[in-house]
Amino acid sequence: MSTYMQQVIERAQAHIDRASAVVSESNLRQRFHLMGPCGWINDPNGLIFFRGQYHAFYQFNPYDGFWGTMHWGHAVSDDLLHWDHLPIALAPSEPYDDYPKGGCFSGSAIEKDGKLLLFYTGSAYHGHGVVQTQNVAISDDGVHFRKYEGNPVIEAPEGVDGDCFRDPKVWEHDGGYYMVVGARFHGRGAALLFRSPDALAWEYVGVLHASRGEWGHMWECPDFFPLGDRWVLTCSPMGAGDHTAVYWTGDFDYDTGRFVPTVSQDMDRGFDFYASQSLLDARGRRIAIGWANEWEWMPWFKDWGPTYRHGWCGSFNIPRQLTMMPDGTVAFEPIDELRVLRRDAAEQRGVLLFDGEAEPLRLGDGVHFDMHMELNLKASDADSVVLTVRASETRKTTVTLDLSRGLFLVDRGQSDGWSEGCTSEPVALSGREMIDIRVVSDTSSLEVFLDGGRSVHSLNVFPDEACVDASIEAFGGTAVLGRLCTYGLEM
Ligand code: FRU
Repeated sequence: MSTYMQQVIERAQAHIDRASAVVSESNLRQRFHLMGPCGWINDPNGLIFFRGQYHAFYQFNPYDGFWGTMHWGHAVSDDLLHWDHLPIALAPSEPYDDYPKGGCFSGSAIEKDGKLLLFYTGSAYHGHGVVQTQNVAISDDGVHFRKYEGNPVIEAPEGVDGDCFRDPKVWEHDGGYYMVVGARFHGRGAALLFRSPDALAWEYVGVLHASRGEWGHMWECPDFFPLGDRWVLTCSPMGAGDHTAVYWTGDFDYDTGRFVPTVSQDMDRGFDFYASQSLLDARGRRIAIGWANEWEWMPWFKDWGPTYRHGWCGSFNIPRQLTMMPDGTVAFEPIDELRVLRRDAAEQRGVLLFDGEAEPLRLGDGVHFDMHMELNLKASDADSVVLTVRASETRKTTVTLDLSRGLFLVDRGQSDGWSEGCTSEPVALSGREMIDIRVVSDTSSLEVFLDGGRSVHSLNVFPDEACVDASIEAFGGTAVLGRLCTYGLEM
């Protein structure tokens, strides 16, 4: 490791040692979602199952609760829920990544010859605008990294803006290496494909997929992987309205480098899911994790929440297992490991909800819970079913299935006096027997999974300690819950 990077890391670690004790006292800290020990975090980086453990790296400014010069934080876990922090893995130190408004930007990890390789974007400034390049760092022990002396390994190809070329995601196939990089290509968002025989010398293959205008002007954090009998491309498009993270599924041919997508959807329809990255674990599961927040250029952006007052900001979403569905869409469900945290299980069948009569629910401590309900559509004639959670006399967050209009809505407008906004989407209900809703709640977040994870709404909320009530209610008729399962979640 260069002595200079070592010094930058030591300085940051000394700050973390001082700040993290105070930050850990914050009453807004999440219980089972990964956060930094202090400071600001954004994108998941370098997700990998390496030597028997899950490694997660993340975009990290240890010094305060706002985005700043980017380091790579690092944590390890056996179950993707309990995390141990390790020393910072990468810090700005070289001409290609040392810039106060840049640094070591997002990227990915692979295992090669027993070593852990990180691929990341160096974001620097040399007097003529920001220059983003792709770089490699190598580790023998999975903890300490040295930057490859041949960096940068890739510079922006023709047609790509030098300041919009970032977030390499690398994978191995058949003894060769492949990389997708997010870019602005002739003014439009794109994912570019590269290949290499040794993961160090890279050749540009071409554009894997690009916006024709409808998907924005820059794609951040692309990921590309096989799932079931198809390929999935994901990214966070800038300038594509309300879409924070989207996916396409289709066919890919290694020989031609051509991807032919036939389906496109949102990965999440909430406010707080961005820059998703996936990993394949030892059990063959494809798991994706997002950064539970959004950027200020999003149309509905308000702010990143009040946690900066406590010296921190940012957590990851709950890791989601991906399943390819027969129609080419993807289902996203919380990883099974979450079940291990469940306490005080209660299951009821055939719950009748009468018009306007709120049925109180006991959901663990009212803050940390997992609940799942199946609504029997055939037996229900209500206009809507409203689930109220994290509520007090004056506060509440609601999840509404509007049966008469075929709409699903999650409203945080009255959650905490801080957050704003309601997310919604149309749901096709006609001819269906049943639809299910699952809600996973942690101190400062709610993740709502509709229809077996075909659609997800992730949103951050910051209710005070009095907000522990929950209820369910039907309006305009009667509703029948075929099943209602509730659990507290303890670590
Ligand atoms: C996405 C992103 C990436 C970039 C990183 C910088 O959230 O903007 O494109 O690499 O964050 O922190």
